[in-house]
Amino acid sequence: MSATLILGLQWGDEGKGKIVDALSKDADIVCRFQGGHNAGHTLKVNNEKRVLHLIPSGILHPKTVCIIGNGVVLSLSSLLKEIANLQESGIEFADRFFISKNCSLILDSHVAIDLARDKQEGIGTTGRGIGPAYEDKVARRSIRLGDLFEPSTLPLKVDKLVNYHNTVLQEVYKVNQLNPESITKELLQQKDLLEPFVTDVTELLKESHIQGKRIIFEGAQGSMLDIDHGSYPYVTSSSTTAGGVVAGSGFGAQHISRTIGIIKAYCTRVGSGPFPTELFDAAGDHLAKVGNEFGSTTGRKRRCGWLDLKALEQIVFTNSVTELCITKLDVLTGLETLEVCVGYSNDNQPIYKSFAGWQENIESCKAFSDLPKTAQEYLSFIEEFLGIPIKMISVGPERESTFSD
Ligand code: GDP
Ligand code: IMO
Ligand code: MG
Repeated sequence: MSATLILGLQWGDEGKGKIVDALSKDADIVCRFQGGHNAGHTLKVNNEKRVLHLIPSGILHPKTVCIIGNGVVLSLSSLLKEIANLQESGIEFADRFFISKNCSLILDSHVAIDLARDKQEGIGTTGRGIGPAYEDKVARRSIRLGDLFEPSTLPLKVDKLVNYHNTVLQEVYKVNQLNPESITKELLQQKDLLEPFVTDVTELLKESHIQGKRIIFEGAQGSMLDIDHGSYPYVTSSSTTAGGVVAGSGFGAQHISRTIGIIKAYCTRVGSGPFPTELFDAAGDHLAKVGNEFGSTTGRKRRCGWLDLKALEQIVFTNSVTELCITKLDVLTGLETLEVCVGYSNDNQPIYKSFAGWQENIESCKAFSDLPKTAQEYLSFIEEFLGIPIKMISVGPERESTFSD
C-alpha cells in the first residue's frame, strides 16, 4: 500500500491537523517527521477543540497507530504533558504510540538560547528551542532519545552540551546559565515514563509498509517556512517540504504516491518575514476576525492576506503535490471582492486578479455543486493556475465540515 503525505503549502496553520484527523479514520498509521512542539494542530470533534503539538493528529481514532519519526526535535516535558492530557480524556496510548530513539532532544538550555537570541534577531520564533536543537543535531552534538538508555555516558554528554550552551548564554546573551545536573536528573525521570514507546521507527515503518498498512505522513509548519525553500532567514529550522519525510522517518520517497497539499483559501503568517500579499485594511480585519486567526501554539495574532498563487506554483512542484485541499473557504464569505496574486511586477509588487465574492453561508455545503457560483469560479481558477485538482474542500473547523470534490 502506497503512503499519503499531507503538507501545508503556506506559512503553517493551513488546517493540517483537521485534515489529518479527518483522513485518519481510514489510516493504520500517522507519522510526524519534522518540527517539534512549535506546531499547533487543531482538531475539532463534537464541538470539542484540542490542540496537538507533538502527537500525530490521528490519535483520536482508537485503532490508528501514531509515530514520531527521527526528524522531530523532542521536548520530553511537552510530550509528557500532551500524553497526560489525552490520557485524562480516556485516550489509550499502549501499543499504538511509538517514538524514534533517534529523535534529538530539546533541552531547557535550547529554549533559553532561542528566547535570548530571538530578542536580538526578531525572527519571531515560537520560543520552543527548535532552532538551537536542530543546530546541535547538525553539529553532531545532540542528546538523542536513545542516549537516555546509556546511563553511564549520559551525564557526561549532557554536561558537555549544557556547559557549551551556558557559555553562549553568558558570553553572548548575558543571561542566566542552567544546571547540567538537574537537566540530567529530569531526563532520567522522563525516560522511565517514555520507555515503552521508544523504538526503531524506520524498521517499524518498513515492516508496516510491507504488510500493506495505510500510512499517512503529517507535515508540520508549511512549505514557505522550509529551511531551504522558505523565506530564509524567516523560516523554521526543519525541512517542511516533501524531502523531509525521507530524512525524518527513513521511509522511501518512492512509496509515497499521494501528496495532499493543503492551502488556506487566503494566507496567514505568524512571526516576522516577507508577506507580499499582506492586508492592512478591512478585508484583512475580516480574515483575522472571521478566521479567528490567532496562533494555536503561542496565541499570537496571525498576519492575514490574499492567496499567493505565484508563490504556490513553485511549491507544488517542489513537493510533487498530486492533489489540493482548500481549507477555510467559509472565512471568505461576506467579502465583496477577492484578490489573488498571479505574478509580480518588476518592482516586486503583487499583480492581482479580482474575483466576485459571495454572501451565502456555505458551512453546510456538502459538494462543489452546492457552493455559490462565485466560490466555484474562485476554486476553479486555483485548480487551473496550479494545474492540480482540488480533491477536498473544508468549510468549517469540525471534522465533518469537509467534502471531497
Ligand atoms: P494546522 O497547524 O495546519 O493544523 O492549523 P491550526 O490548527 O494551527 O489552524 C487552523 C485553524 O483553523 C484551527 O483553529 C482550525 O480549527 C480552523 N479550521 C480548520 N479548517 C477550517 C475551515 O475549513 N473553516 C474554519 N472556519 N476553520 C477551520
Ligand atoms: P503549524 O504546524 C505557523 C513560525 C514561527 C516563526 C518561524 C520560526 O501549527 O503550522 P520556530 O519556533 O519554528 O523556530 O519559529 O516559524 N512557525 C509557525 N508558524 N505554524 C506553525 O506550525 C509554526 N511553527 C513555526 O512563528 O515565524
Ligand atoms: Mg498550527
